[in-house]
Amino acid sequence: FHVDTDPAQAQKGAYPFYMLKEIDEQPGVMRNLIKEYIAEDGSIKIDTDLLKAMADSDRIYIVAAGTSYHAGLVGKELFEKLIQVPTEVHVASEFAYNPPLLSAKPFFIFLSQSGETADSRQVLTQVNQAGYPSLTITNVMNSTLSREATYTLLLYAGPEIAVASTKAYTGQIALEAILAKALGVYKQIATIKDFDVAAELTKAANGMQELVDEKGKIEKIAADMLKDTRNAFYIGRTMDYAIVQEAALKLKEVSYIQTEGFASGELKHGTIALIQENTPVVAIITDKKTANHTRSNAQEVKARGANVLYIVSRDLATPTDQIVLPEITPLLSALVAIVPTQLLAYYASIQRGYDVDKPRNLAKSVTVE
Ligand code: G6P
Repeated sequence: FHVDTDPAQAQKGAYPFYMLKEIDEQPGVMRNLIKEYIAEDGSIKIDTDLLKAMADSDRIYIVAAGTSYHAGLVGKELFEKLIQVPTEVHVASEFAYNPPLLSAKPFFIFLSQSGETADSRQVLTQVNQAGYPSLTITNVMNSTLSREATYTLLLYAGPEIAVASTKAYTGQIALEAILAKALGVYKQIATIKDFDVAAELTKAANGMQELVDEKGKIEKIAADMLKDTRNAFYIGRTMDYAIVQEAALKLKEVSYIQTEGFASGELKHGTIALIQENTPVVAIITDKKTANHTRSNAQEVKARGANVLYIVSRDLATPTDQIVLPEITPLLSALVAIVPTQLLAYYASIQRGYDVDKPRNLAKSVTVE
């Protein structure tokens, strides 16, 4: 499978909608990133100046909007767990007017598929005025955020046309993992040698392929579970909490089902009041430490009538879990766990008769504040 950046590739081909095509392209995006950034001998092809600037800093600030913000939540886990670099993730439109107290030597990462989001540009302008170093991770070469940041890394994901972002999210996470690996090697963090990023991204590509090959199953689950509902909930803890926030955004933006992604421990502090007979609740379980906790939360909503769908890593799965995820390091579970949720969103939208590529009131790239 091959993804290129040729404009002709932006054609839908045999696909009814771009969103489905872009979901299917994700294994290819993983392979492209390996090809672009990882040499045969496993060394990472990232500019040493960038790594030095990052190594000289004492904290990473990730700034983004929408789906890119959610990719940043996973990035925080990667930078902190793999290489022990304190990392904060901020919504650009909040940061612009209420910046946190910064550390002595901040380094900024702007995540943006389009490279044009006004909320993020506004923060980058402030960052440049203050003279801090920055990196833009984007899918669009020479985009505004790319031109204005100190450094750029490209996603090489091919054009993303559907308004709801899919392959840019998984591409951003994969590239954050590659960057964390490169920085870990640069900083001589002993444990980083255990993280074979090329092998993990190859596993991700294969796992994503398995999942997109099972579309029919997800289409049926969407029809059974989401067809007539007004609302739905995603629940998870730790890394799975990061994942459910993106899963919920995907479903709400294309199906107009009111969907929230919750930290499952918070359910009992309010949200459980919304559970009624047949309310759809999707539990994502890929984190070993909290798997049993999320399972008991799912049982609690089930006891109140919820219709529960389990999306679970293979090593944590039980025979009744409906969707079992292919194996990957837990730090990159988002790469596979998100795929069934993208497909659920896609089919829920189609089954309701909507134009999934152009949801009402939304734009692909928001260039106004
Ligand atoms: C818009 C799009 C979203 C996207 C967000 C951030 O709201 O509809 O899909 O996640 O902008 O865009 P960016 O290009 O900065 O990643």
